[in-house]
Amino acid sequence: MDSFSALIRTASHEQHVEAETSTFMSDLLGGRLGMAAYARYTEQLWFVYAALESTAEHLATHPVAGPFIRPELLRLPALERDLAHLRGADWRSGLSALPATRAYADRIRQCAERWPGGYVAHHYTRYLGDLSGGQIIRDRAEKTWGFAKKGDGVRFYVFEQIPNPAAFKRGYRELLDGVAADDLEKQRIVTECKTAFALNTGVFRALGEEFPLSA
Ligand code: HEM
Repeated sequence: MDSFSALIRTASHEQHVEAETSTFMSDLLGGRLGMAAYARYTEQLWFVYAALESTAEHLATHPVAGPFIRPELLRLPALERDLAHLRGADWRSGLSALPATRAYADRIRQCAERWPGGYVAHHYTRYLGDLSGGQIIRDRAEKTWGFAKKGDGVRFYVFEQIPNPAAFKRGYRELLDGVAADDLEKQRIVTECKTAFALNTGVFRALGEEFPLSA
């Protein structure tokens, strides 16, 4: 059988293409949206990472999820700096989750509380993606809205404590390959990963509706 890291990658490939080519992402990457859309998207990410990271501490010693909990990945402080830049010092007062974001964050919290294997699926889907395609998004955002390179507004995409993302991703895939789960549980994790992608696509769909391009 293929390694687990190869399995989860292959199994989610189709959903990856769907997320990547969603109308909202295409418009964002194509430089066709205003900064308000980018700010709204960044707000949604805040809810997702609050769910991933407020639950991380109690999973740190769990045999399945524990090895994935790494302080150098934490995104919430960077997101909060970006939001202060995008929305101003009182960014918290205007923060609101779209229903699709609420559903996504709820699912992450459910997994964190009841099913650490499922949490690993969500962890993989976000952090490995941020370390990969996230860099393309950062580059586009800097060019489209004029943020300082790796500065305020795009700090979410900058992993200050991961100088070599390619090496980090290799290490991460080794963690996936060594995950303390049997084949059935691995299958379930793969299925949850597809759900995680679908939840992301749902957020993009809602954002696309909120920020349609006027023809
Ligand atoms: C426009 C948006 C996106 C672009 C341009 C993009 C691009 C990429 C690229 C180039 C890779 C390959 C990295 C490599 O081979 O090392 C990658 C991997 C990945 N992306 Fe994306 N991506 C996007 C959106 C997303 C989204 C929305 C998610 C999920 C929330 C996601 C999750 C992932 C994951 C989990 C991987 C790692 C696959 C693996 O090696 O196991 N990506 N992405």
